[in-house]
Amino acid sequence: MVSADRFNPVMPDHRYEQLVQSVVDYAIYMIDPSGHVVSWNAGAQRIKGYRADEVIGQHFSMFFTPQDCTEGRPERLLRQALEQGGAQDEGWRVRKDGTQFWALAVLHVIHDDQGQVVGVAKVIRDITDRREAALQLDAVRAQLFQAQKLEALGQLTGGLAHDFNNLLTIILSSAHLALSTKDPARAQRMLQHIIDAGQRGTELTQQLLSFARHRKLDVTRVAPANLIDATRGLLEHALPGSIELTVLVQPDLPLIEVDTGQLQMVLLNLLFNARDAIAGAGRIGLTVDVVELAGEVEGLRGGFVRFEVEDSGEGIAPAILPRIFEPFFTTKPFGKGTGLGLCQVYGFARQSGGAICVKSEPGQGTCMQLYLPIYQAPADSQLDG
Ligand SMILES: Nc1ncnc2c1ncn2[C@@H]1O[C@H](COP(=O)(O)OP(=O)(O)O)[C@@H](O)[C@H]1O
Ligand SMILES: [Mg+2]
Repeated sequence: MVSADRFNPVMPDHRYEQLVQSVVDYAIYMIDPSGHVVSWNAGAQRIKGYRADEVIGQHFSMFFTPQDCTEGRPERLLRQALEQGGAQDEGWRVRKDGTQFWALAVLHVIHDDQGQVVGVAKVIRDITDRREAALQLDAVRAQLFQAQKLEALGQLTGGLAHDFNNLLTIILSSAHLALSTKDPARAQRMLQHIIDAGQRGTELTQQLLSFARHRKLDVTRVAPANLIDATRGLLEHALPGSIELTVLVQPDLPLIEVDTGQLQMVLLNLLFNARDAIAGAGRIGLTVDVVELAGEVEGLRGGFVRFEVEDSGEGIAPAILPRIFEPFFTTKPFGKGTGLGLCQVYGFARQSGGAICVKSEPGQGTCMQLYLPIYQAPADSQLDG
C-alpha cells in the first residue's frame, strides 16, 4: 500500500540506509537527543575524515572549533533543534586532521511512529569555496567603490583648489584693507568678510571629508531635497564657470531608502560625465521629481523618485551607447577616464531596486535618468502614524 505518512515510508528501512550511505557530497548523520552520534554516512567520512567506528558514540561537539565549544554553540544548536523541530547553522568545523572547513548545517528532529523524538538528523555541506568566492566578490566590489571615490575626489580637487584660492584672496585682501584703514566701521566689515570666507572654506572641507571617509555601505531613509542640498556645494564646485547648472527639485518629494554616500557619488559621476561632454560653454540640468511607473522602464512598477541629469554636450553615438555601462569602457584619454563611473551608477541603481536609463543622440546632448523606489512604510507602522 502506498502511504503519504512520512513516518511510514514505502521504501524499506535498509534501502533508505543504502541511499543515505551512498551520498558523498553531503555529510548525513544522526545524533541522539543527548548529542551522541548514532549513524554516519560516506559523505560524512569524506568531508570530516573520520570513519564510522571512530565517531559513533562520541558527542557531536567534537566537530566544532574549541572556541565554539567554549561558547556552547553545539548545545545551543541541539537545544534549538529539539525545541523548534529543526535548526540551521553556518560556521567553521574541524576535520579529523585538524583542518577547518566552512559548513552549512541543517538539523532536523526525527520522531518515531508514536511521535517520540528518536534523534536529530544532521545534513552538512562543505561550502568553503562558495564562501570564499562570495568574500572575494565583496572585496572586489569594495575596491571598485573605493577606486571610484578616489577618482571622484581627484576630479573635485581641481575645482576646489580654485575655490580655496578665491577664498584666500578674499581673506588676504580684506586683511590688508583692514590693517590700512582708519575707519573702524570699515575695518569691522573687512573682518566680517574674513570670517565669512573662512566659514565657507570650513564647509567645503567638511563636505569633502564626509565624502572621502571610508564608510561601510549603510542604507538610510532620506528626503531627496536634503540630499541635494548636502551635495549641491560639491556639484557646483565640480563645474567650470562656463557651464551653467540648474537644479530643480519638486517640492514635497517622498522619502527614499538608499546609501546616501553612494547616491552622492552617483550624482557626481553623472555630473562629471555631463561636464566632460561639454566643450566650452554649455548647460547641465539636474531635475528631481516623482513618477509612477507601469513597467515602461525595465519592467519597474510603482512610485519612483527620478533624478535626471541632462546636458547640452556632444551626445553619444548609437554604436557606443550599448557599451557605456560596461566596467572600464571609456572614450576618454588615459588619465581622464577610468570607465568605472557608469558601472557604479548601474550597480547602485540595480542594488537599490531602481534603474538607470539613457537618452542621447550625437549633437543633441544626453539625458540620464536614475529611478529609485519610494520608501514604503510597513503596513503596521502606517497605522500607528
Ligand atoms: N553625458 C554624457 N555625454 C556623452 N558621453 C557620455 C556621457 N556619459 C557617459 N558618456 C560616455 O560613456 C563612457 C563611460 O562613462 P563612465 O563609465 O562614466 O567612464 P569615464 O567617464 O571614466 O569614461 C564615457 O567615456 C563617455 O564616452
Ligand atoms: Mg565618468
